[in-house]
Amino acid sequence: MIVKGNLIDCDKNGTIRIRENTYLIVESGIISKIYSEDEIPNSLKNEKIEDYKNALIIPGLIDMHLHAPQFSFRGLGMDMELLDWLNTYTFPEETKYKNMDYAKKAYPKFVKALTNSFTTRAVIFSTLHKEATVLLMDMLEKTGLKCFVGKVNMDRNSSGELIETTSESIDATREWLNTCKNRYKNTKPIITPRFIPSCSDELMKELGEIRGDTYGLQSHLSENPKEVEWVRDLCPDSDGYLDAYDKRGCLNKSDIGTVMAHCVYSDEKEMELLKKRDVYVAHCPQSNICLSSGIAPIRKFLDRGIKVGLGSDIAAGYSLNILNQAVEAIGLSKLYWRYIDSNSKPLELAEAFAMATRNSGPYFGNIGAFEEGFEADILVIDDEALNDGVDDIRKRFERFLYLSDECSLISKYVAGEKIIIS
Ligand code: GUN
Ligand code: FE
Repeated sequence: MIVKGNLIDCDKNGTIRIRENTYLIVESGIISKIYSEDEIPNSLKNEKIEDYKNALIIPGLIDMHLHAPQFSFRGLGMDMELLDWLNTYTFPEETKYKNMDYAKKAYPKFVKALTNSFTTRAVIFSTLHKEATVLLMDMLEKTGLKCFVGKVNMDRNSSGELIETTSESIDATREWLNTCKNRYKNTKPIITPRFIPSCSDELMKELGEIRGDTYGLQSHLSENPKEVEWVRDLCPDSDGYLDAYDKRGCLNKSDIGTVMAHCVYSDEKEMELLKKRDVYVAHCPQSNICLSSGIAPIRKFLDRGIKVGLGSDIAAGYSLNILNQAVEAIGLSKLYWRYIDSNSKPLELAEAFAMATRNSGPYFGNIGAFEEGFEADILVIDDEALNDGVDDIRKRFERFLYLSDECSLISKYVAGEKIIIS
């Protein structure tokens, strides 16, 4: 396959790179060569070229944290903080996925919206229900998107029926992992303890064992002041929230890494451990605003070389559009700089774009930029509605980042496969 157009991505130094009228040669899903108009060999010029002319072409975006079953109640309860919101809206809604008829009605809406979004790769929570989780994975598999999906574990401090015993949780996780074996090409299981308050020490330790060196792990970390205080009470043996995961053996080095959502209240010691355990931080700015959680110290993470990507955190965040998250991340970083720490300079546009693309790319492989050897995750954008009279690509790109909801997605490729958008 050959795709031609105006390529915009981040280079490895985090600078926005613009290559106009440039050819991407894609073989077996991988970008094998990149040619400018001057360089393209004549032999290739005669091949079929997908020429996107004046459109903008960017790498596929990565959503490092979201909850598929929560798509159905986005926008509700946004006047609450985390723990009340979980008990009032989230747990009752997630309970419904025990019923497969409900899951069969609800999940297609989420899957369709994700397919039509700018996201090509995602790290997703389902619910604790094994059957509905497999249904979600089967549906995602068919879209061509590449996702990690986790059956959630929770054996304490829940409400109503949304709870497992410790042994049920462990057995169901093993069975689910068995079901997933050899079933998928695009979809991968990921170990998913909801957060420390939901998982007993025994369960956490067993999940660490199951993880071994085979599976990735996702969870929540230091999101809200009351939650952080609760974890301190629950884990008197631990020197902080991330240390509680570590002491229970959840952060052992695996071939696939660990993703922790939020990290709003991570202090120096926690940052050190985030770095040491090579954790990916999923920054979820819209969620942190909506649940009044606070402002994560993203500049400090970046200064320390901690990996930071973006998460929509549906439904604590309401928008699946990762560019909206990128823009909110910039906004929050300005408030952090103005009100909290004048040494933490605001995020630049390029840094926010890198957080949406190449920062978390390595979680999935060689992903997140247009470079030889990278998988061909490509978005083709029509920004016609915005670019009246503007022909400078950099300016068009800046406006697109802020106003992407007014633009349309012409084509979407994941590892070179064209995704059917509807
Ligand atoms: N912490 C534990 N569960 C959740 C959840 O579903 N959403 C968010 N934002 N935080 C959590
Ligand atoms: Fe979350």
